[in-house]
Amino acid sequence: MAKRTFRVWRGDASGGDFQTFHPEVGEGMVVLDVLHQIQAKEAGDLAIRWNCKAGKCGSCSVEINGRPRLSCMTRMNTFGADETITVQPVKTFPVIKDLVCDVSWNYQQNKRIKPFKPKPLGPDGKRRMYQEDVNRVQEFRKCIECFLCQDVCHVIRDRDRKDKFVGPRFMIRLAGLEMHPLDDEDRIPEIKKEFGSGLCNITRCCTEVCPEHINITDNGIIPLKERVVDRYYDPLKIIGRKLFGIRKRT
Ligand code: SF4
Ligand code: SF4
Ligand code: FES
Repeated sequence: MAKRTFRVWRGDASGGDFQTFHPEVGEGMVVLDVLHQIQAKEAGDLAIRWNCKAGKCGSCSVEINGRPRLSCMTRMNTFGADETITVQPVKTFPVIKDLVCDVSWNYQQNKRIKPFKPKPLGPDGKRRMYQEDVNRVQEFRKCIECFLCQDVCHVIRDRDRKDKFVGPRFMIRLAGLEMHPLDDEDRIPEIKKEFGSGLCNITRCCTEVCPEHINITDNGIIPLKERVVDRYYDPLKIIGRKLFGIRKRT
């Protein structure tokens, strides 16, 4: 066991500040273990959100030394022996108390997305899809809704354009639906307009912080942007559609 220095943000929507603690840290501990120890021994009213402690529920998102991370998956041995560890709530969403934020804006975005609409049955009365198409959308299904990508995206973090851009988490939900081989819905107009695909300038910050290693930008957002360009800006395709009729899906 060794004493470490932790600076933990304490406060609520009206303001707050960092409080310093010196917990005993043992081998194998993660940041969430240390926060629990602080809660048990020094600050019983410290608010922390967590559930699984296994990197699967997406609840324990915080910023640790300035980087968005899951506290249950951040091992203490990733820091230097004398390094001060600073833990604060994710910046992009309003604080409720201490390390707990109100992430309900994300659930409102989710509700705006048109759900899966199955294609009609084939002539043999069945629906079929190829394994490679399944593999393609499987990646997006790994999302644990930790919202770390939402936290780091500069469009909603620094520019506060929550009114114009749904953020990377919902771009990959849209990608998962749009690329689903059996989906028959058309979401390209909303992706361009209400969901604001044009505001993403593919900096890949979201991909860098995703704990599920989803290639958000290259596999999700860029293909959606390409579909928007095909639909609205490709002159040959526009003429083709005018001459031969509108093709809904891209
Ligand atoms: S790549 Fe796009 S969605 Fe991801 S962080 Fe950058 S601007 Fe945001
Ligand atoms: S895409 Fe990755 S970073 Fe974003 S919410 Fe899902 S799991 Fe978290
Ligand atoms: S507690 Fe579930 S992801 Fe960390």
